[in-house]
Amino acid sequence: MKAVETIKQIRLAIARQKSKSQRIGFVPTMGALHEGHLSLIRLAKKHSDFVVVSIFVNPTQFGPKEDFKKYPRNLKKDAALCQTAGADLIFAPVPEEIYPQGFSTYVNVEHLTQGLCGASRPGHFQGVATVVSKLFNIVQPDAAVFGQKDAQQLAVIRQMTRDLDLPVKIIGAPIVRERDGLAMSSRNRYLSLEERQQAVALSRALNMAQRLVKSGKRESGIVKRELIKVLKHYAPLGKIDYLEIVDNATLKPVKVIQKNTLLALAVKFPSARLIDNIVV
Ligand code: PAJ
Repeated sequence: MKAVETIKQIRLAIARQKSKSQRIGFVPTMGALHEGHLSLIRLAKKHSDFVVVSIFVNPTQFGPKEDFKKYPRNLKKDAALCQTAGADLIFAPVPEEIYPQGFSTYVNVEHLTQGLCGASRPGHFQGVATVVSKLFNIVQPDAAVFGQKDAQQLAVIRQMTRDLDLPVKIIGAPIVRERDGLAMSSRNRYLSLEERQQAVALSRALNMAQRLVKSGKRESGIVKRELIKVLKHYAPLGKIDYLEIVDNATLKPVKVIQKNTLLALAVKFPSARLIDNIVV
């Protein structure tokens, strides 16, 4: 699987494909790939002819106390996985290629970035929006795929693409889970055995909430209380960072759960902070 590191190289490779009228699909990642990422690559392939995967641990989206340094990096393994999923080219730049000396322009999406993960990770979405808009400009894809796993990120990217008239079709992809329901994440590997066992509480709680809603309990306050009970019972090592019931597009809190309501939560275990969500 071919991997290029410079903007010049990737532009050349893309120009070659575009001259053959190939539609470019794009999957931005930070590497440490798992089945969730691979499902995005397969979906991108359905919507395009030539799929580029970027692998870049983006420093500007990590807070000073977060895991930028220890974030798992293994390009060889990732490249092999990309190939099995049908990717055509990997873009794996070094940080200086994306943020050269003197870099000073950032993309800020307002409102949507205030709550949920934005509240506990200040600056995170500015880093995400900045790197994704740069990657869009570098790769110039026709379509780009993002996971519903990071529901707020997907909403922010959709908003940014609309607001800045970026000519990219944004495609959302469903959450891929482990057999026991835990949403796949590159950070799951940080968990101790005990934390890993308790981590299943996130999806358990969300499934329970969905059952409640289906049975007619639609008041956000009631559903929230039940969610907290399940989380506390099954994940005593975890501390609830947030638990929100919001509209899936605006991310504004809703009092009564309706179609397209997002139930989103983040739980901090001693070794990792995990997020999960469900749209009812
Ligand atoms: P990363 O965490 O590597 O995720 C890359 C893409 O994979 C994101 O769109 C994410 O939502 C998706 N993804 C992760 N786990 C998933 C799962 N279990 N099921 C489905 N999709 C999943 O998100 C980022 O990187 C970065 O913020 C990035 C967009 C690359 C910008 O730096």
